[in-house]
Order: sequence, then C-alpha cells, then structure tokens
Amino acid sequence: MFFRLFLFLSVASSVSAAGNVCKTGNIVNRLVNSQPYYWPATWNETQTAPALEMGQTCSWTVTIPQGYYAKLIINGKTQDSLSIFQTIDAAGNLMRTTQEGMQPYYFPPSKFSVTVSNQAAATFAFRIEWKLLPTLPTLYTQISAIAEVINATNKEYYIVYDSNSGVSLLPFPEDINNYYSLRSTLIFEGGRIQRGNYIGNLFLIYQSGNQYITSSGFDSVVIVNLEASNQTNLLLIQESRYVENLHYVELVPVLNSQYKATINSQIKTSALVSTSSIKQTLIDIQMDDNANITVAYGTPDPMVFDKTYTGLQFKKLLPIMYETPVLTFVLDSGVAVFTFQA
Ligand SMILES: *[C@@H]1O[C@H](CO)[C@@H](O)[C@H](O)[C@H]1NC(C)=O
Ligand SMILES: *[C@@H]1O[C@H](CO)[C@@H](O)[C@H](O)[C@H]1NC(C)=O
Ligand SMILES: *[C@@H]1O[C@H](CO)[C@@H](O)[C@H](O)[C@H]1NC(C)=O
Ligand SMILES: *[C@@H]1O[C@H](CO)[C@@H](O)[C@H](O)[C@H]1NC(C)=O
Repeated sequence: MFFRLFLFLSVASSVSAAGNVCKTGNIVNRLVNSQPYYWPATWNETQTAPALEMGQTCSWTVTIPQGYYAKLIINGKTQDSLSIFQTIDAAGNLMRTTQEGMQPYYFPPSKFSVTVSNQAAATFAFRIEWKLLPTLPTLYTQISAIAEVINATNKEYYIVYDSNSGVSLLPFPEDINNYYSLRSTLIFEGGRIQRGNYIGNLFLIYQSGNQYITSSGFDSVVIVNLEASNQTNLLLIQESRYVENLHYVELVPVLNSQYKATINSQIKTSALVSTSSIKQTLIDIQMDDNANITVAYGTPDPMVFDKTYTGLQFKKLLPIMYETPVLTFVLDSGVAVFTFQA
C-alpha cells in the first residue's frame, strides 16, 4: 500500500512538474575531496538534461583555488533564438552557446562564471569538477626561426616555449566544424602556470580567426594540455618577429580531391599556411602577374630557403607537388586563389 502510494505520487509529480527554477548570484566553492558539484543536485551525467522553467536568468560564480583547474560540462538546449548559455573565464573571455552536449570546458584559477538566460522553456544541467593543475613543466624549449608543429591535444603536457621576441600560436583543428577539443589546452604568458598570465585556450584562438601573439614584454609562453583527447589537433608555434605582421589563412586539405583557398593582401599581408604532411599538388593559382609570392617551407624568413616569385614566374612552374610539415605562401599584394589536389 505504502509502495503504491509512493509510486502514484512520483508519477503525479513528474507529470505536473514544471522545469527547474534558479537565481542569479550563486557562489560555488570547491567541495570537500574535490567531489563534483551538480546543478540541479539531483542530476548527473547519466541522465538526460532536465527541464528549465521558462524565463530564468541564473548565474553561478565558481571559485578555483590556486593549483587547481575546473572542468565544466553542460547538458542543455535552448528553444528560441534569444536564450543563451554563457561562460566567462578568469581572463574575461566570453563563450556563448545555445546547445551543449557535455563537451568539457577547462578553467584556470581564480574563477569562472556560468550563466543561463532563457525565454522559452529549455533544458539545462551542469557538473563541475576541480582537478589539480600540473606543477612542473614536462619540457622547456626555445623557438626561433624554425617553425614547430606539435600535437596539441592527444596527450597531456606542460611546455614552456621561450624566444627572443615573442611567440606566435596558430591551432589547426582536425575537424574545422567541431573543434571544442581545443578547449583543453590553456595558454599562459610568462614562464609558469602559477606566475603566468592566463590568456585563454586554443579554442578561443582558433575562433578568433588568426594567430595569437604574446603581448609585448612576454618572450615566453606556457602551453598546457590538461586532458588528452583522441582528436589530432595540431599547433603551429613560431617566433613572433617573423610572422607578427601576417594575417594567416589555414589550408585545409581534402584527401583525393581538389580544394581551393583564397588569401587577400589588399589591406594586410596575408599568408596561406598548411601543417598537413600529406602530399599536395598546387595545380592552379590566380593572382596578379606582377604581385609577388614567397614560398617558405616553415617560418617565412629571408635568411632561410624562402623563394619569391612574381605571379607570372610562379604560374609557369605549376603544377608543383609539396610534402612538408609546414608550407607557407605569403602574398605581397592583391588576391590569390589557389587550387590544390591531394
Ligand atoms: C546518476 O543518477 C542515477 C539515477 O538517479 C543513479 O542511479 C546513479 O547512481 C547516479 N550516478 C552517479 C555517478 O551518481
Ligand atoms: C601527431 O599524432 C599522430 C597520431 O599519434 C601522429 O601520427 C603524428 O605524427 C603526430 N604529429 C606530430 C606533428 O607530432
Ligand atoms: C573520440 O572519443 C569520443 C569520446 O570518447 C568518442 O565519442 C569518439 O567516437 C572518438 N572518436 C574516434 C575517432 O575515436
Ligand atoms: C614585387 O617585388 C618587386 C621587387 O621587390 C617590387 O619592385 C614590386 O613592386 C613588387 N610587386 C608588387 C605588385 O608589389
């Protein structure tokens, strides 16, 4: 009898259940033993996202003690064009989405915020975990005129790159339509996580549409991947003095097909860059006959093996097959349209 009554009540409450409600100004501190924090407290990641009542505006400020980072997953979906999920990290970087499938975010100290604002009813839940940051670099290294390409996310690491003038970072996601896995790699200016100046992550750099260059006064940068993922995202690392004036366009090879790329140097000198090690044949280029194009097998640097051609000279050399870890084309003026075959 008691059991039946209980069943009846729970069915009744789930039928009549409105969504969850929430408020602004919540503060969340690391729990004892770094246990995960869930909102709502009855949810966990094995369940579907619970309903959120229409018309909510809610925020959580999550503190992160020194020596830790926070990992956030959100499960939810908004139902109208005005509703959003938003996070802001310790450097003030803002990320907005309308749909979340539990792809993780990673935040360094000292805090981040999560906000949800919805008009129509939505679904929404999240989990936060606090984990230890690595304490010691796995590698200290120097970057100069030779470009370096590393696997950005397929293992954990904590690398310090030092240079004479500053460091340029340009991420190449494996999948240009789905690159959230770049969020696990955090960037700090200066030589250590602890004393460094948190800047953002590789997701934000890729989303910005250009390379990241360390601020003046910072010759070194810390790159730390907090969790390995199975995505082969690459990161091109160069010394900034050779490339700081370039706008980069990434070449995305498509195996067994022809594909095009366009660069426009009418306002800013632009460069097409590839970090693919597959064989690519440049079969056509449309550019002004008297514009100049420089081909570099790495960082463009007149002291190395770069070669500069006029459009007229270069067109006569086609087709050209390339197979090199880094390939850069710098255009001095006008527009160039490249056609490759891989
Ligand atoms: C998640 O929630 C389900 C359903 O309430 C429960 O059975 C399970 O034990 C929970 N898992 C964890 C890890 O808390
Ligand atoms: C990146 O990792 C993949 C898979 O492990 C490997 O094949 C590739 O050579 C690596 N690339 C670089 C630049 O280290
Ligand atoms: C990568 O890992 C994710 C999550 O573990 C999985 O869903 C996906 O299928 C994996 N992808 C590949 C190519 O192995
Ligand atoms: C190409 O380079 C040459 C030699 O530096 C220069 O004289 C010429 O103006 C350049 N062409 C264009 C279109 O800028």
